[in-house]
Amino acid sequence: MLSTLPRLIGHRGAKESAPENTLASIREAARQGARWVELDVMLTRDRVPVLIHDDTLDRTTSGRGPVADLDFSDLRALDAGSWFGPGFAGERVPALEEALALILDLGLGLNLEIKPYPGQEVPTAEVAIATLKRLWPEARPLLLSSFEVPCLEVAQALAPEIPRGYLLWDPPADWAEIADRVAAATLNVDQERQTAETVAAYRGTGRPVLSYTVNSVERARELLGWGVSALFTDAPGRLADGLGPRL
Ligand code: G3P
Ligand code: MG
Repeated sequence: MLSTLPRLIGHRGAKESAPENTLASIREAARQGARWVELDVMLTRDRVPVLIHDDTLDRTTSGRGPVADLDFSDLRALDAGSWFGPGFAGERVPALEEALALILDLGLGLNLEIKPYPGQEVPTAEVAIATLKRLWPEARPLLLSSFEVPCLEVAQALAPEIPRGYLLWDPPADWAEIADRVAAATLNVDQERQTAETVAAYRGTGRPVLSYTVNSVERARELLGWGVSALFTDAPGRLADGLGPRL
């Protein structure tokens, strides 16, 4: 599955051009030529897996307050596009299920980031994995990832065959042991903290390194030059144009 890892992954779809984690954003990433998208999944109060990044509704919807306080039917009444631009009015917070159908239809690969509401690490991973097992064909490219080690442990127990990416921002001292313990296939690291040396250390564990979130062509070149395998970007089309064809 990871043999198909692309150089660029559309971050939250194509976050620079469309409201993040919406169907419109997934379509826009495909339109820009992305081969994979990265999306964040969280549970509603009634445990429906939906695509949203923040713990609260405020920034990316017309609602207010914690995501975990709303049932799916209430969440569906919210507008998840107007905050970005009037052309996106009426976009909804997608259920994971409908997003998967669209991604498959568009022929994209997927990095699904398990982004639990605090305290919901285990059920979020359980429900996301059950949904993937039901709807995602085994042969299609898929990477699960999380900053939350309990999510990766659940994924390892329930779906060991799906590759897992260990997301790091401020890495704990024992990150390498954790990566071994959860049998992480990749290390997905913050781009701002990286140097040639840190990338070499991560690659030294034998894992591909992915880096988020890279929107500058110059920085993309630098990271790829250090051996980073794939970059999460809000602007997959612009970066692809700037980087040029893979030699
Ligand atoms: O998965 C890469 C990246 O999305 C991780 O950070 O906060 O954008 O979900 P965040
Ligand atoms: Mg994410």
